[in-house]
Amino acid sequence: MSKFLLVTDLDNTLVGDDAALAQLNQTLEQHRAAGSLLVYSTGRSRVSYQKLQQAKQLLEPDALVTSVGTEIYRPGSVEPEAKWSEFLAPGWDRALICAVTAHFADLEPQPDSEQNPFKVSFWITELAAREVVPRLEQALQAENLDVQLIYSGSRDLDILPAKGNKGRAMAYVRELFGFTPEQTVACGDSGNDQALMMGEERCVIVANAHPELLTWYQANRAPHRYLAHAKYAAGIAEGLAHFGFL
Ligand code: GLC
Ligand code: MG
Repeated sequence: MSKFLLVTDLDNTLVGDDAALAQLNQTLEQHRAAGSLLVYSTGRSRVSYQKLQQAKQLLEPDALVTSVGTEIYRPGSVEPEAKWSEFLAPGWDRALICAVTAHFADLEPQPDSEQNPFKVSFWITELAAREVVPRLEQALQAENLDVQLIYSGSRDLDILPAKGNKGRAMAYVRELFGFTPEQTVACGDSGNDQALMMGEERCVIVANAHPELLTWYQANRAPHRYLAHAKYAAGIAEGLAHFGFL
């Protein structure tokens, strides 16, 4: 059994089919006993993750990346990894970002629980996003703000530090745990997971993925990127088998 590092999104990737999740959990437990590791990478805050954890049968991960890659938690820790926050801080100006976004009436702020020092999040419809996001990007650039805008699930708009996303956070934990990109498999279903799929790591897009991620995949096909036929956790298992880990 060759060991691997599985980095997976939660909502509509690992979670979505309870029977498939239970089956994958069993498989993962065997592989973890032989040195494989499990990392969750979610758009949710830690508080929101804990609600999901209470509702679903989730294994305890070896690291938890929350809030679209802006926070990293080690097992048992309630404080986000300080080294990661220090990495994100230079050039990030939350107050200035909020001053700019205040001019955009179509942006509906998400609840306070989903905002954090390095993440400013809104809801906006797909139709409005098409027109608003490019204008907002320009306005932020005009202030010399080094940020990235990520649109996910046809509803969520996150403003993050340019160097903070799920992909960068994955590279951080991968190096921490000493796994190569070839030993790493990232899985996702929506726009904020694209950052997990831009590097050399193996990646799996579950069959139920959102159009925003499928469109990107069609334009960026490569041997290390796999579009599963199965949905949710069954798609993850299919992808791990495709890359020879199961
Ligand atoms: C989760 C978060 C939300 C974020 C979305 C997409 O739903 O709660 O804040 O916008 O993921 O990244
Ligand atoms: Mg998802």
